[in-house]
Amino acid sequence: MAAPAAPAPTGSAAARAVRNVVFVDGVRTPFGKAGPKGMYAETRADDLVVKVIRELLRRHPELPADRVDEVAIAATTQIGDQGLTIGRTASLLAGLPRSVPGYAIDRMCAGAMTAVTTTASGIAFGAYDIAIAGGVEHMGRHPMGEGVDPNPRFLSDRLVDESALVMGQTAENLHDRFPHLTKERADAFAAASQAKYDAAVKAGKIGPEFVPVATRSAEQGWGLATTDEPPRPGTTVEGLAELKTPFRPHGRVTAGNAAGLNDGATGCILAEEETAKELGLPIGMRMVGYAFAGVDPEVMGVGPVPATEKALSRAGLKIDDIGLFEINEAFAVQVLAFLDHFGIADDDPRVNQWGGAIATGHPLASSGVRLMTQLSRQFAERPDVRYGITTMCIGIGMGGTVIWENPHWNGGEK
Ligand SMILES: CC(C)(COP(=O)(O)OP(=O)(O)OC[C@H]1O[C@@H](n2cnc3c(N)ncnc32)[C@H](O)[C@@H]1OP(=O)(O)O)[C@@H](O)C(=O)NCCC(=O)NCCS
Repeated sequence: MAAPAAPAPTGSAAARAVRNVVFVDGVRTPFGKAGPKGMYAETRADDLVVKVIRELLRRHPELPADRVDEVAIAATTQIGDQGLTIGRTASLLAGLPRSVPGYAIDRMCAGAMTAVTTTASGIAFGAYDIAIAGGVEHMGRHPMGEGVDPNPRFLSDRLVDESALVMGQTAENLHDRFPHLTKERADAFAAASQAKYDAAVKAGKIGPEFVPVATRSAEQGWGLATTDEPPRPGTTVEGLAELKTPFRPHGRVTAGNAAGLNDGATGCILAEEETAKELGLPIGMRMVGYAFAGVDPEVMGVGPVPATEKALSRAGLKIDDIGLFEINEAFAVQVLAFLDHFGIADDDPRVNQWGGAIATGHPLASSGVRLMTQLSRQFAERPDVRYGITTMCIGIGMGGTVIWENPHWNGGEK
């Protein structure tokens, strides 16, 4: 095995300068429905991550594996096949050289997003040149809340309301806080998400980022996962109106206007811009800045609002500078709260133009890199757009936003 190339000296504090970080490329497994009938029911979570890492390297033979300086993989439930420092174990299983280190990350739904921002910060600082960041959640093998032991003081000291720990109830709370965000609006947004996703699949926009996964089932034998399992094309607002409200009697949140319970993994290559050029790696997008913010855990869905305000203000940008939005659709009401705050219409074409998690699924810690991968591919189609954001709400009351610049920007010509 070749010895890793000696890194360029970056250690002198006096000489230190922040370096540009680029998103090279992202891939994901098709997402599955969690549960015994789901396509990944008998597939290990760490094997999904292995597929993603191997696919990134397969697509980029110009990247010598020993130039990867770090592998950060997120999972919300870090036990069993999602435990054991999954960034490290999945790297070894994927055949990366033993000299490449790895670690695990948890920030619930924003796990992969945090894997990106954390390794990107390491790149900007000069600690790494190249990193692989991603996430996985096998909600079939690891149902939400598995093994958790919340400190009783949360409730006895009334630090949070009981509903703060049940994400669907936090979405009901958001409907309470913003009564004008009605169930009808949430259902219309959800039906549109399904329709946009369906159109994007038919137009060949969704799929090029997939790595097919061999599956097995004791009943059905071997299979190959090549498409997302959760989407429900043909969803209508009339059909959605009939659904039960599992989080509250006569509530507003349903299986149709919420993301489901899903299995899947995502990953991306991040690089210092000059290193990417030196190696001939493509530049999908350039990181402008990011921010995370805390909100009341009882209304965690509002998190993207302060996170985006913070990220925009630190970057010296305004919401009108953003030409494309990839917002995670944990719940329709939570996206509506974001759009409403910034004065963006529910059906604004800049928002989730290929549909969102309500259609495609939301394997918690993996989703951040799905948003980024889609945004980078939209940038390539839209040289008239300079900036885009990826943003998501996060359990226990947080939001995360990353602002990206389009390397294909043509100065604004349509
Ligand atoms: C909402 C939730 C409880 C629903 O779980 P579920 O009951 O297993 O969901 P199902 O897929 O079985 O759907 C329930 C029903 O709605 C129907 N349905 C779901 N989506 C539909 C759609 N788009 N159109 C019409 N019907 C739909 C299903 O067919 C099913 O009908 P049935 O009861 O007659 O079989 C679950 O998806 C959930 O907890 N989601 C939130 C996940 C979450 O919190 N993530 C973290 C975010 S921070």
